[in-house]
Amino acid sequence: MHTEACIFDLDGVIVDTAKYHYLAWKRLADKLEIRFTETDNERLKGVSRMDSLEIILGLGEKQLGKGIKQKYATLKNAWYIDYINRMTPEEILPGSLEFIKELKSAGIKVVIGSASKNTPLILEKVGLLKVFDAVADGNTVEKTKPDPEVFIKAAELVNVDPAGCVVFEDAVAGIQAALNAGMKCIGVGSPGILKEAHYVIKGLHEMNLEKLKTIEKEFLK
Ligand code: BG6
Ligand code: MG
Repeated sequence: MHTEACIFDLDGVIVDTAKYHYLAWKRLADKLEIRFTETDNERLKGVSRMDSLEIILGLGEKQLGKGIKQKYATLKNAWYIDYINRMTPEEILPGSLEFIKELKSAGIKVVIGSASKNTPLILEKVGLLKVFDAVADGNTVEKTKPDPEVFIKAAELVNVDPAGCVVFEDAVAGIQAALNAGMKCIGVGSPGILKEAHYVIKGLHEMNLEKLKTIEKEFLK
């Protein structure tokens, strides 16, 4: 197998925004008097904004109408954006930019495949808006991970077959989405949690082109 495109999830792979999602959701959970911990926050990784709200409401055994749920999701997003607006290029996770540049020099397409509707704002704040060949995100797709739509779209944008794509993902739902798309997947995080991935790394600081070639030969056949 020869990699023609690398598709990167954004939150938790290129930047650590999970902490900001947590702070904003925590503020909403406190307002709704729902107990919400950092462990609970793990369940929200890769999950869309509305589905995240449903999980939190479930923790508090609360049921709300559609309109009020929309209002709370908007409120949480406003709080989240307050954090995002303060992000700087220093928050790009170590090794990410170096790896992306190396891939581009080798003629491998680099694409974002993220569930987040805030993807353009985050990329702008950390100075990555012009780095990727294409961006597929929560604004351009309807179905959320583990549905493969976002990764299929990402591959289409750079005219690469799913079989030629390697996805980097930190969420279980995202790994399932990559596999459902017929792509190879490198998990970013703990091997114990990301069991379904073809290979797992701790972070992009572990990656370079040579290592990708080695992983390709041994694990992505
Ligand atoms: C994913 C995050 O990338 O984006 C989730 O892992 C988040 O935690 C989802 O809920 C949607 O993000 P946003 O920015 O559209 O609320
Ligand atoms: Mg993620």
